[in-house]
Amino acid sequence: MIDMAAIDKSSRRKVDKSLRKVVDIPPGRKSVVLGVTGSIAAYKSAELASLLVKQAHEVFVVMTQDATEFISPLTLQTLSKNPVMTSFFDEKENWRPGHIELADRANLLLIAPATAHILAELVHGFAGHPLAAIALATRAPILVAPAMNGKMWAHPATVENVEKLKARGVEFIGPEEGMLACGYEGLGRLWKVNEIAFRAEFLLSRHDKLIA
Ligand SMILES: Cc1cc2nc3c(=O)[nH]c(=O)nc-3n(C[C@H](O)[C@H](O)[C@H](O)COP(=O)(O)O)c2cc1C
Repeated sequence: MIDMAAIDKSSRRKVDKSLRKVVDIPPGRKSVVLGVTGSIAAYKSAELASLLVKQAHEVFVVMTQDATEFISPLTLQTLSKNPVMTSFFDEKENWRPGHIELADRANLLLIAPATAHILAELVHGFAGHPLAAIALATRAPILVAPAMNGKMWAHPATVENVEKLKARGVEFIGPEEGMLACGYEGLGRLWKVNEIAFRAEFLLSRHDKLIA
């Protein structure tokens, strides 16, 4: 006699297996929102996006309007393999605002390079553009790699802003000393991008353990 229950069970197992295959997410694959702001170091975000993709993460680049003067969204879109957000009004396809979706989806918000201006915005909770709004809405860890003129970095306003952000749990990497694009030598250069990518990896794995 044919055991219909056994056939049913085995075909269900087959269906389940194929379904699992469709939704397979590679182990360790995380979503990184890479914020890029209007610094001369913005071109280095291309290599950073590329490294994060090589580390097998989903990378979503969000640029300030000023950042687009330094590097083209097309470059970052191609390297990150995802659309780049530069304005709230890019968001026409979904009922759900794209910046909130990215804020929820992020396992890490990495802002590199970060200008003096974005640091001040983050301190005050301004939400005038998608990157600032994502920083408010996300509950993911935030890693900031500043880049600016040494006098801007040393100014009491910036020093105070950095202290306030650190007190809220924002992590900083850099800046480092060296020759700056503005012609001065000093503390203000973007940290080495491979080390920023390494730090991002560490925070992503730590976050994983915290939520496991
Ligand atoms: C050529 C050039 C280079 C700049 N580099 C920097 C920089 O490295 N760091 C910084 O804080 N501001 C820099 N600025 C000034 C910022 O672009 C400016 O403060 C801008 O408002 C930042 O906007 P955002 O933070 O919204 O991108 C630079 C401006 C110019 C014209």
